[in-house]
Amino acid sequence: MYVCNCNAITERDVAAAIKDGASHWRDVHAHFKNTPCCGMCENEITETIENEKF
Ligand code: FES
Repeated sequence: MYVCNCNAITERDVAAAIKDGASHWRDVHAHFKNTPCCGMCENEITETIENEKF
């Protein structure tokens, strides 16, 4: 399932980016060499990052 429709980033992609060190919403996009645009995915990706910390 897509988390970011603009850049076609899936839940699995987010998990992979976090595993590789992404600690911010923008890091997840940068991991896939994308630039975030609309920002609609920011909250969901940020929540996932926060959940992974604990
Ligand atoms: S949904 Fe992620 S930047 Fe638009």
